Amino acid sequence: MATNLFRGERALTLGWPEWPEASFHFIWLRDNCQCASCLHPSTRERTHFTADVPAEVAPATAELIGDGDLRVVWAPNALDPEGHESLYPDGFLRSFRYPDEGAVQQPAPARRLWASELNGRVPRFDFAEVVRDDAALLGWCEAIRDVGLAVVHGLPNHNGEVERFVERVAFVRETVYDRLHEVFVDPKAYNVASTALELKPHTDMPNYAWPPSIQLLHFMRNEATGGETTAVDGFQVAERLRAERPESFELLTRVQATWRMFSEKGDVVGRAPMITLDPDGRITLVRFSNQLMQPLQIAPELVEPFYEAYRIFARMIEDPANQVVMRANSGDLVTTHNHRVLHGRKAFDPASGARKLQLSYMDFDDLLSRIRLLGARRAAQAA
Ligand SMILES: [Fe+2]
Repeated sequence: MATNLFRGERALTLGWPEWPEASFHFIWLRDNCQCASCLHPSTRERTHFTADVPAEVAPATAELIGDGDLRVVWAPNALDPEGHESLYPDGFLRSFRYPDEGAVQQPAPARRLWASELNGRVPRFDFAEVVRDDAALLGWCEAIRDVGLAVVHGLPNHNGEVERFVERVAFVRETVYDRLHEVFVDPKAYNVASTALELKPHTDMPNYAWPPSIQLLHFMRNEATGGETTAVDGFQVAERLRAERPESFELLTRVQATWRMFSEKGDVVGRAPMITLDPDGRITLVRFSNQLMQPLQIAPELVEPFYEAYRIFARMIEDPANQVVMRANSGDLVTTHNHRVLHGRKAFDPASGARKLQLSYMDFDDLLSRIRLLGARRAAQAA
């Protein structure tokens, strides 16, 4: 619990025996008052308008009470003509310390980058357990969050099973393809997936501003010769590109390529860089689809440098040292974080046996939400 309190000119600083001290600006504290008139008691949503908190807001008094909770009485101000009282639980202040003071409110998801050493070690889960047992479901969710690739085995050969699996976790993400998309050899195919040709590692639907972020591919039957599944950790390869060829990496974060995908239902065209960074420079999204990329429309002086950067990145993706190659059997559900992990398949012989796949998508935000809910339920059961 907090044991020290120091009042500065614009902020209060708290000290804990076991944590570095942390400061909170007056304006931040007043805006984040936890009382029932500032936070709606059932929705926990803010009820005052943040812009109404005046810049000069300041405490009349501030003190630590009870188990290190902070009590502030605010001097009358434009928002509180009569003054106002706030109480901040110790745990609230510890969890919301400013990031540069040792804590981040929402830590970025953990990442375990991988290359070919993941061969034979792809996380595997049993379908019946994932459906029945929350701990197994949490295990699968965490594997997608941290590794970005996992196999669930033992799915029944039922039409729509992958859709029901998604609904067990969260919600189906619908796209220009059907909610439940069939992959089989189709002479009238929209794209190369519905042929027996090799499909180089790619991410799905980079043509969307927010591509579907988790792909779930149900191998209902896979008795054909060939057709091994390939997978590449796009974040790992992009990090390597950043380290080894920084000028190419920088170009791929800046130059916008174009992708297009169509079906009988729609025609989605999008422009974006191949590598997206967040404001801290972390890689958050890799787009790579040889088959969907459209003619470049970029400044003339960037055309040749872009092709060079693309070539280097693509050769790294194709390098067996960066690839997992595995045989997906009938009943396997191959699941990937589609903003990170590229998937592909080797050519197969359609005359050698049946090969029937169904796929659905869901979104990563909903996976993180499920992890949060399962964690909260586990904590409640343990209490
Ligand atoms: Fe695909």
